Amino acid sequence: MAQSLLKLCLIFSLLCFASAQLRRNFYAQTCPNVEAIVRDAVGRKLRQTFTTASGTLRLFFHDCFVQGCDASVILVSTPNNKAEKDSPDDITLPGDAFDTVIKAKAAIDAIPQCRFKVSCADVLAIAARDVVAMTGGPFFEVELGRRDGRVSRESDVHGHLPLPEFKLDQLVSMFASHGLTLEDMVALSGGHTIGFSHCNRFTNRLFDYSRRFPVDPSMNATYVKQLQVQCPRNVDPNIAVGMDSVTPFAFDNQYFKNLLQGKGMFTSDQVLYTDPRSRKIVELFARNNEAFNVAFANAMTKLGRVGVKTGNEGEIRRDCALVN
Ligand code: HEM
Ligand SMILES: *[C@@H]1O[C@H](CO)[C@@H](O)[C@H](O)[C@H]1NC(C)=O
Repeated sequence: MAQSLLKLCLIFSLLCFASAQLRRNFYAQTCPNVEAIVRDAVGRKLRQTFTTASGTLRLFFHDCFVQGCDASVILVSTPNNKAEKDSPDDITLPGDAFDTVIKAKAAIDAIPQCRFKVSCADVLAIAARDVVAMTGGPFFEVELGRRDGRVSRESDVHGHLPLPEFKLDQLVSMFASHGLTLEDMVALSGGHTIGFSHCNRFTNRLFDYSRRFPVDPSMNATYVKQLQVQCPRNVDPNIAVGMDSVTPFAFDNQYFKNLLQGKGMFTSDQVLYTDPRSRKIVELFARNNEAFNVAFANAMTKLGRVGVKTGNEGEIRRDCALVN
């Protein structure tokens, strides 16, 4: 398959230029140590604050689903343009996640050979891979060669990111629109094995859920009580709770074990188990951490290809927060 594609490319070289691909050793000539440099910067930042890990993983996901993986989510608003990061869907992306990319980029650009050669989009992709491995998840090779976008619009965000109230059909169709399968979607949802959510994203399930049910009936009653204590009515809006209530700092398959017990934080989490179409996948990942790791690594690689700009498209940003 790959070989015949290569032959096609040789014959129709124009066609293949237009759809240039990412590849593993993209910076072999221009910045051979880029991955080690990023790993050091991410590791240093992670030792200071855990949100480096969960925030950076979520930042990568939000970047890829809006305008493709082009670091458009990192651009700041200007007097004439409200940027993605200032949309309500992105407003809780932690500052530490942006800072991780900025710090890693600065470490790269401090090396004369590498200066202004590596895109912010690639730095984010490498950092997202690294935080998964550093918190106990799988290590995988990351494809590189993304170019940075020059457009970041607040109005592009809403409707392009999944909401915690989503049911399976909505999740499936949004992920499918980016070439991601049901299994990819379930595996990527396992990203919620690390990190935190603010109370307001799920309290609808705890109080006055519906006319028939005061609380969401798909939730474990013990878990409901626990969350009602952590997130009472009129809770301080800054309070955030571990999404994997057992091991929120470890990238493991506990997220899926929790779903089996009705301990998914969002409707979009729990529905993966309650809907028979995805239940088998949840059960597999819950009993087999290796199957989850393999599926997650594969799905992250596919996520990293979504809408990428390559070749002469976009630019290599000097400052990740500003277009050149
Ligand atoms: C499937 C649909 C998804 C929905 C509905 C969803 C929704 C959410 C929500 C509401 C939060 C809480 C944000 C806050 O209150 O600060 C969150 C956090 C998070 N999400 Fe997702 N998400 C989804 C998929 C993903 C994917 C695919 C990834 C990455 C692979 C991911 C990684 C994360 C991480 C790591 C956090 C924690 C961030 C932190 O600790 O600051 N999510 N998500
Ligand atoms: C609900 O959670 C409790 C306590 O963690 C657990 O013992 C129980 O098995 C769970 N219930 C269901 C239906 O999974």
